[in-house]
Amino acid sequence: MNTKVIELQKLTTEEKDSIFKEAATIIQNGGLVAFPTETVYGLGGNALNPEASSKIYAAKGRPSDNPLIAHVANLEQVVPLVTEITPVAKELMNKFWPGPMTLILNKSEIVPLTTTGGRDTVAIRMPNHQTALRLIEEAGVPIAAPSANLSGRPSPTQASHVVEDLSGRIEMILDDGQTDIGIESTIIDLTEDKPVILRPGYITPEMLEEVIGKTEENSSLSEEEKPKAPGMKYKHYAPKANLIVVEGNEQEVVREILTRIKEQEQVGVICSDETRQYYKQALVKSIGSRHDVKSVAHNLYRVLREFDESDVSVIYSEAFGETEFGEAIMNRLVKAAGHQVIKV
Ligand code: TXA
Ligand code: MG
Repeated sequence: MNTKVIELQKLTTEEKDSIFKEAATIIQNGGLVAFPTETVYGLGGNALNPEASSKIYAAKGRPSDNPLIAHVANLEQVVPLVTEITPVAKELMNKFWPGPMTLILNKSEIVPLTTTGGRDTVAIRMPNHQTALRLIEEAGVPIAAPSANLSGRPSPTQASHVVEDLSGRIEMILDDGQTDIGIESTIIDLTEDKPVILRPGYITPEMLEEVIGKTEENSSLSEEEKPKAPGMKYKHYAPKANLIVVEGNEQEVVREILTRIKEQEQVGVICSDETRQYYKQALVKSIGSRHDVKSVAHNLYRVLREFDESDVSVIYSEAFGETEFGEAIMNRLVKAAGHQVIKV
């Protein structure tokens, strides 16, 4: 299949109109279009069409019991997908949508089991991105979209990542530059007695608590326990090199990494703008400033992909857990490291 890659920012208004029409038609006909959201790029298909969901699993190489998120453009689109919008769901939607929050609710009959990986619940999100919202609106159906990467690779934060992974496998890629946030949405299960966070993200437990009180957290499940978000049980992205996270106070972390990389060849370091200067004899990449943890999330997946293009065999990464949504960043980093964390 020939994948059409469209650079939206280079188009005139009229050209954009016709591209969105074409993309919407692809979705309506059961085809696949990758598009940006504020978190990461998604691989979209009609959430109400079982064949489209099957194509999504095939294109990603993803196990078909790992459910997809249905993306909506407005609240009216949510109503037919669920048995009930609970008061807690309503409050969260009003506060955080459009935005990086996914809610799990009990599904209605019209949502195919292929979309929900055989479950009777459905994940729903209204993304905060004009391109995503326009595509969903013009398609006139909710769009099922996992992150637009091959299963086992980091989520794509720019269109070139999608091209790398999915070129030839899908009909169209809408390139609208880099995504803003850079890590996937916070997932909250509202089908139990208490709201449970299944995946940490940019919307933190503290932000949720202000609106709905305390939530429970379920994201740090060990491999043996049965995870509620099935995505947590699959092997996560592991870089080609052996990634090891070093955690502790800044000076000790730097000292530990410097000791370990001494006289080693083909070694990489992931650090912050503040510590960049200390590392000389390795392939060093800063993922952002500790004073701007947003920049760390924004750059994380891109930097991990870049290391795969180098020939380093070990990567030491500083930890980034201390602030705000540090938990969300560490969740991804520690998984990428296969839980190899050295505490100093
Ligand atoms: O930010 C995001 O959420 C991005 C963008 C594209 O919206 N999407 C995304 O989708 O990260 P994906 O498929 O890569 O991750 C969705 C996660 C998976 O871990 C999946 O198991 C879980 O959501 N999930 C989906 N439906 C669920 C359900 N009904 N019950 C429990 N977990 C569910
Ligand atoms: Mg994903």
